[in-house]
Amino acid sequence: ASDENIQTDLVTLTRFILEQQRSLAKQASGELTLLLNSLQFAFKFIAHTIRRSELVNLIGLAGATNATGDDQKKLDVIGDEIFINAMKASKNVKVVVSEEQEDLIVFEGPGNYAVVCDPIDGSSNLDAGVSVGTIFGIYKLLPDSKGTINDVLRSGNEMVAAGYTMYGASAHLMLTTGNGVNGFTLDTSLGEFILTHPNLTIPHTRPIYSINEGNAAYWPKHIFDFVNSLKKPQPSTGKPYSARYIGSMVADVHRTLLYGGLFAYPADSKSKNGKLRMLYECFPMAMLLEQAGGMAVDDKGQRILDMVPSAIHDKSGIWLGSTGEIEKFLDSTKGK
Ligand code: AHG
Ligand code: MN
Ligand code: MN
Ligand code: MN
Repeated sequence: ASDENIQTDLVTLTRFILEQQRSLAKQASGELTLLLNSLQFAFKFIAHTIRRSELVNLIGLAGATNATGDDQKKLDVIGDEIFINAMKASKNVKVVVSEEQEDLIVFEGPGNYAVVCDPIDGSSNLDAGVSVGTIFGIYKLLPDSKGTINDVLRSGNEMVAAGYTMYGASAHLMLTTGNGVNGFTLDTSLGEFILTHPNLTIPHTRPIYSINEGNAAYWPKHIFDFVNSLKKPQPSTGKPYSARYIGSMVADVHRTLLYGGLFAYPADSKSKNGKLRMLYECFPMAMLLEQAGGMAVDDKGQRILDMVPSAIHDKSGIWLGSTGEIEKFLDSTKGK
């Protein structure tokens, strides 16, 4: 045998979901399996399109407009169209909410699920070659629902699955169906997402904080003071925290899941409800973090998943990451 240890028993996403389905009696219908397969097609197609558009953007290949930011905007729209078409073709999605669609979309025909999505998260960074991603969350339709806004103006606790695909050097899919978090990496030659991070759990603490300090002048005082306290040598280690901020939520959350630490986008005097959208950014990331053993709260320390949006593009301040780090933040908010 060759000395290279060839993996001969790869667990693909499809095989993983089928194995999970057997253990998840409640989803035994196989519907969720079909939906996750349609989702993975959308991720593969978007990954392919991003690689091509990066090439087009950066090298300005013949026939391509060597456009500036507009292309990224186009990328938001292209990603949105790919996603919506894949959900429509699945024949088991009834409702779609997308960052790029003002109103919710209700498909004709059958469908037991509502999917919320941020088709391209971090698109403003694409020209700099920074990783972008697709974030998604899945609700089962309410009983006897024909697909209305009520299927999505619900607490994050009611999501049956959530995750993201980050388009970095490889495409990484982090998925939870309510039984922990599993990470998959796209093998482009096989065209399959392969299980590479089984049962991922976030470290309990890590002295890394991730926040846009450019907003510091607009933060409430107690948040300003808390962030500043991280820059001082810590009693336990004698060293300050490290600052890491990429500016794409998917990339910042991916690093936080793998390394541990704290990511925050607080509300401030400029954006009184923060910048990140509850349904398709805060809820899916909060579900992932909790399922990985971490936490996700708002500026007042309320659990993100307990919140209920009153409109599909509602925003919320968010603090997520290692339990030890979030507890440190919660202690600092006491009595504030
Ligand atoms: P999107 O590209 O989907 O609109 O999301 C951008 C978000 C999120 O990816 C990131 O965490 C945040 O914007 C960064 O905002 P700032 O540039 O204000 O830090
Ligand atoms: Mn986003
Ligand atoms: Mn987006
Ligand atoms: Mn956007």
